[in-house]
Amino acid sequence: MSRPRTSSVCQLIVLPILLLSWIVVLFSFAPWAEAQLQVGYYNHTCPSAERLIRTIVLASIRRDPGNGPGLVRLFFHDCFVRGCDASVLLDTAPGSNATSVEKASQANTPSLRGFSVIDRAKRVLERRCHGTVSCADIVALAARDATGIMGGVQFAMPSGRRDGRASNVSDVLNSLPPPFANASMLVGSFAAKNLTADDMVTLSGAHSFGRSHCSVFSFRLYPQIAADMNATYGRFLRRRCPAATGRRDRVVDLDPKTELLLDNQYYRNVQTREVLFPSDVTLLSQNDTAALVDLYASNRTAWKVRFAEAMVKMGNLDVLTGDQGEIRRFCNRVN
Ligand code: HEM
Repeated sequence: MSRPRTSSVCQLIVLPILLLSWIVVLFSFAPWAEAQLQVGYYNHTCPSAERLIRTIVLASIRRDPGNGPGLVRLFFHDCFVRGCDASVLLDTAPGSNATSVEKASQANTPSLRGFSVIDRAKRVLERRCHGTVSCADIVALAARDATGIMGGVQFAMPSGRRDGRASNVSDVLNSLPPPFANASMLVGSFAAKNLTADDMVTLSGAHSFGRSHCSVFSFRLYPQIAADMNATYGRFLRRRCPAATGRRDRVVDLDPKTELLLDNQYYRNVQTREVLFPSDVTLLSQNDTAALVDLYASNRTAWKVRFAEAMVKMGNLDVLTGDQGEIRRFCNRVN
């Protein structure tokens, strides 16, 4: 008789503890526990927000297709530096040091583009739903739309980000990988953002559209064409990027084959070493990254699916939510 009573007492004490710890574990691993962002975040507060952003992005790409790659890169440069908080959009406050903001970094000036598209979307959204849609969300949704329009990769982008109040030029080169990075530097720089080597290879596929300035990679053309660059491609690039260009920094397409399409052609270019940066060709130097290059080169759908997932994952980087940060009135300055 006494034995069943002891065990039921034990059960009374132990079971709730087990249940509680199970709930704690469940919640700490549940995706909704970490991501406070939501798909359709503006459905009630500004129902036309996503449609308006898409319309503006589409019009901007029709006017100048360079806006598409520009917006995708803007999203990357925003999220990697202080998180996706639109800090990349801030101008220097009047009276302070003109070279102090992220925008002024050599990684962003003069190459980053798409700012005017974000400003136009913000103006329209402020008229429609004053003080509601953050600049950080506009950057993320515009990058998603550019991906859809130029790559046919459709996906839902969660929103609910708020805008940061700070931007420091010194954060940029510490956070973004340089174009001369080798594979382990790239893996390390993405790992610092909780992104995997697979995410890095997958997101590098964005180098299948858009452009680069010659100054970024001319060290691979002169005095000799780099050993790890396709020689024919190197000679083609030399004509586009002459050694003595004076002060003019010309631009060339990142993808010599399908420059207006965001597609898996990038991975074929890596395989044939027809890519501009050491950070591209280095993907062949490690077994795991090279295997993924081969997979994506031959399987466009696999890359598209993973690219969409990786963009959403990047969009979660150190986001401000709830009562953190603010909803800026103008994307280029804090309220
Ligand atoms: C893996 C490390 C990366 C390095 C070292 C790198 C470096 C660069 C450089 C140097 C340029 C040329 C800028 C210019 O001179 O105009 C460029 C362009 C570009 N990058 Fe990356 N990038 C990386 C990853 C990414 C990622 C993750 C994305 C987005 C998902 C991205 C999207 C782009 C796009 C779309 C362009 C063309 C921009 C335009 O046409 O305006 N890059 N990148």
